[in-house]
Amino acid sequence: MALGIFRYVFAPTARRERRKRGKNMTTVAVRFLGVSKRYGSSQAVSDLNLSIGYGKIATLIGPSGCGKTTSLKMINRLIEPDEGTIEVEGRDIQSVSAVELRRNIGYVIQQIGLFPHMTIEENITLVLRLKGAKAKTLRRRTEELLDLIGLDPAFYRNRYPRELSGGQQQRIGVARALASDPSIILMDEPFSALDPISREQLQDELLKLQSAVQKTIVFVTHDMDEALKIGDVIVLMRHGQLVQAATPDQLLRHPADRFVREFVGEKRFSQRALLAKARDGMTEAVTIRPSQGLAEAISRMRLHHVNALIVTDRHDHYLGVLGPQEIYLHFGDEAKQVADVMRREQTITLPDADMADVFSYLEKGARGFVPVVDDDDRLLGVVTRASVIAMIATPHASSPEKEAVSDELVMANAAAKLE
Ligand SMILES: Nc1ncnc2c1ncn2[C@@H]1O[C@H](COP(=O)(O)OP(=O)(O)OP(=O)(O)O)[C@@H](O)[C@H]1O
Ligand SMILES: [Mg+2]
Repeated sequence: MALGIFRYVFAPTARRERRKRGKNMTTVAVRFLGVSKRYGSSQAVSDLNLSIGYGKIATLIGPSGCGKTTSLKMINRLIEPDEGTIEVEGRDIQSVSAVELRRNIGYVIQQIGLFPHMTIEENITLVLRLKGAKAKTLRRRTEELLDLIGLDPAFYRNRYPRELSGGQQQRIGVARALASDPSIILMDEPFSALDPISREQLQDELLKLQSAVQKTIVFVTHDMDEALKIGDVIVLMRHGQLVQAATPDQLLRHPADRFVREFVGEKRFSQRALLAKARDGMTEAVTIRPSQGLAEAISRMRLHHVNALIVTDRHDHYLGVLGPQEIYLHFGDEAKQVADVMRREQTITLPDADMADVFSYLEKGARGFVPVVDDDDRLLGVVTRASVIAMIATPHASSPEKEAVSDELVMANAAAKLE
């Protein structure tokens, strides 16, 4: 019931924020306008323009040194830009004192940064104590927040950070960032020091938490899986510049350039799948001969983890299909062979058929597969739901686009050699 208390406690802020938002007529929580930052001769961030909507999670991702942390720290003025303007909730952050600004911005970092000599409660409520909150308030707030992040308050309130696992400490880091109910939370690779399982767990918890508290979160990561999983918008940076800001779906479907394509890697989808033919989406069929027995059929299905077999002759000509129901109905009769019980009236397709048509067969037919045969009725393979998914998810191993990229590389290398 943490959420019930939670709503009550947070209501005044939420109302205030809505009012504020209404007045300014803005749906943008954080806006970068032509922001640049140099360190000596090196350009850490270059002419960054970016808007992050209220209640959204934006993930900043890119190679090491591309300016993610610098961009993040400029939002709460831990770093001051050389050029440009940053607005938080419609206000230029230069018009607000850094202290006041940070009151409304939580900050979570990879190294967690809990104070070892303070209890969990003292760590979580540090800022509230500095603001002079009463002991009762601190205690209540600690309980709410520990509930919210899934740690038993009675057990953890008075413990010290060293008594907690890395994942638990990281959760405390998140609770501390939420303590003063900021509307924006900055997170710099908060989960990257954790093992993969704790990391996944914390990602799930962050998403759950976010659906309850609706903060605006700017989340730095170098893990594309993480960025895709938690980001409403993914901001890809390189050499201090924004390369692409897009939803996960847009990024996977329409990477802006070669760098993005390579960065997203094999997770992106093949657009060719939309124009695919039956041959593109088929997989190897598990076959059986007509003269074999039903017990053999069963053991073959089990061996290959399939629920049907395609019956072919010695020359791979398609004859029919055999599924569990044919076997079940005749299994008691040891004299029966595959030829006696197989079905011949199964829908089959030629390899050049459009995948869209094959799909309508897949959906209409009683069986979840369509055999693919050539003009001479020779079996080429079988299209199943799983093989279609595999096709969509497979990167362009032989797509013209990929070849073009390789050609470009070859040419660049050749040019380099000539110079
Ligand atoms: N205080 C500093 N003095 C000089 N150069 C700096 C300073 N802080 C950052 N830089 C440089 O600015 C660039 C951007 O650094 P930043 O920390 O923003 O990168 P990042 O994207 O967060 O990288 P990582 O993924 O490794 O954390 C880098 O080239 C870095 O070396
Ligand atoms: Mg960094």
